[in-house]
Amino acid sequence: MSTEPILEAHDLAKRYGRRTWALTGIDLAIPQGGITALVGPNAAGKSTLIKTWVGFERPTRGNVTVAGIDPQKDRSSVLGLVGYVPQSPSLYDGLSIEDHLDLAVLLRPEFDRAYALRRLDQLGIPAGQGAKSLSGGQQAQVALALALGTRASILLLDEPLASLDPLARREFLHVLTDAVRSEGATALLSSHIVTDVEQACDRLVVLGVGKILLHDTVSDALATHWLATEGAATPAGAAIGSFGGPSGERLTLVRQPASSVGPDLRPASLEEVVLGYLASGRVVPGEAAA
Ligand SMILES: Nc1ncnc2c1ncn2[C@@H]1O[C@H](COP(=O)(O)OP(=O)(O)O)[C@@H](O)[C@H]1O
Ligand SMILES: [Mg+2]
Repeated sequence: MSTEPILEAHDLAKRYGRRTWALTGIDLAIPQGGITALVGPNAAGKSTLIKTWVGFERPTRGNVTVAGIDPQKDRSSVLGLVGYVPQSPSLYDGLSIEDHLDLAVLLRPEFDRAYALRRLDQLGIPAGQGAKSLSGGQQAQVALALALGTRASILLLDEPLASLDPLARREFLHVLTDAVRSEGATALLSSHIVTDVEQACDRLVVLGVGKILLHDTVSDALATHWLATEGAATPAGAAIGSFGGPSGERLTLVRQPASSVGPDLRPASLEEVVLGYLASGRVVPGEAAA
């Protein structure tokens, strides 16, 4: 895995209308290779950030690049590198899967129809089937196959798991992980629930309302975060944020190297890491100032 950044944002701020700051000055550099989870609550700005990378939203301030290219300056080059699956992707009801593949080839002559077909075949989704008769999970798989068929080296997937049942989620992540590993691609997928993506992801970006609260590898995040229960001594300056535990107790997320952790602290799960950072960055949606 190279460390060359492939998705970057530089002081990126985005305002909709007069007052809604969706993003408030984001600096981010995601290295090439592997899967990054972009996790944050509803209205955090996940879709806005992803759409900015594909040039569908224009920054109010700052800029973004994809493999060094600014989509505002050269959107077609960026679109040639990226497979993008929007939130709630819409297949055409009246068309079969095969029709969708034909359409993909029409839009993008280098579209690898055979590869997309093979992926669907492995999942037992017949290409002759009408899009309307597919389950939510199958529709998500078709959308993913359409993105993978572009053979793009960068995949941007906006909440691809939101409408899937647990088994379909697992299957989707399995297909994605396999494709990313075998092709050496870079994928970014957003979710509002970290447990959904935990097993599949190499890196984690936590987005609060309009700002980055954490960007780390999953393994480093797990190795350096701890939980203190109420009354436990938390080392000065190490507390990130506090939130309510399952039985109403107050839990505090602490960031510290493993070597200096006292007996009162226990390792935090990835979900607890996210909760701690979200608690630290709690802002009223839409009222964040850039
Ligand atoms: N086209 C738009 N016009 C006005 N406000 C928008 C638009 N798109 C998003 N927003 C607002 O920007 C904020 C971030 O939205 P979004 O990027 O969709 O967040 P997420 O994907 O994390 O749920 C929200 O407050 C949302 O209401
Ligand atoms: Mg969204």
